[in-house]
Amino acid sequence: MSKAPIGVFDSGLGGLTVWKRLKKKLPQEQIIYLADSGNCPYGPKTDEEIIALSVKCTEFLLAKGCKVIVVACNTATSAAISYLRDKYSVPFVGMEPAIKPAAHYSKTGSVGILATAGTLNGNLYKETQQRFANHVQVHLQIGTGLVNLVEKGSINTPEAEVLLRSYVEPMLKNNIDQLVLGCSHYPFFKPLLKKITGGGVRIVEPSKAIAQQTFRVLTLNTLLNTTLERYSDEFYTTGNVNDMQTFLNKVVKVVAEVKILTL
Ligand code: DGL
Repeated sequence: MSKAPIGVFDSGLGGLTVWKRLKKKLPQEQIIYLADSGNCPYGPKTDEEIIALSVKCTEFLLAKGCKVIVVACNTATSAAISYLRDKYSVPFVGMEPAIKPAAHYSKTGSVGILATAGTLNGNLYKETQQRFANHVQVHLQIGTGLVNLVEKGSINTPEAEVLLRSYVEPMLKNNIDQLVLGCSHYPFFKPLLKKITGGGVRIVEPSKAIAQQTFRVLTLNTLLNTTLERYSDEFYTTGNVNDMQTFLNKVVKVVAEVKILTL
């Protein structure tokens, strides 16, 4: 049993999609969320740069006493999770595009993946596709610009719709019936994506599975908080406090004070 908090970090606000699921699955746990929005996006950065930033985020969360670290970022998972697991003794939970269930459930044999350049070019993704999606056609698309739109709160906007259409419509022409969101920022676009895909396409994102996996890891390590005490979550950003504050209140619909952090 441990009352210590769960640490969650992302290159920015995208990991709040994971935070939401974690909160639902583990309401008794305190979560410390770090948005590295000051260094966002991670997608175009080199692995070395992403590792250095992930180490800084991890060190901050460990200094806060976190018992497990959830890397709520596909790009950071791809570039840095092996390094982090080797360096620190605390358990890590990472994210990767949910290509396995998408390939399994596809009836058309055609699957679309939308993710960052860092994720799609990484070995982790290539190996996963090789292992689980050899029997289907996979249409890869780098979602350039999408992370920045979420960071500035431009979610249900004509600008976002135009960009999403330019990425998704070619996949629809290739008859995809599964669209994998391989970046934790992208689930914020679900309403627009449903409009664009017209309902015939299943949108697959792993935040529920990540919450389940975190529960499993805490259980295995006897780290679950089994007390009835509740502590409020903490939110930090390396970027603009007001932007995150507005995003939390308006988009995630959470009332909490965001604190500024310099890493
Ligand atoms: N949320 C991050 C991910 O899941 C976005 C990466 C970025 O900052 O480019 O990949």
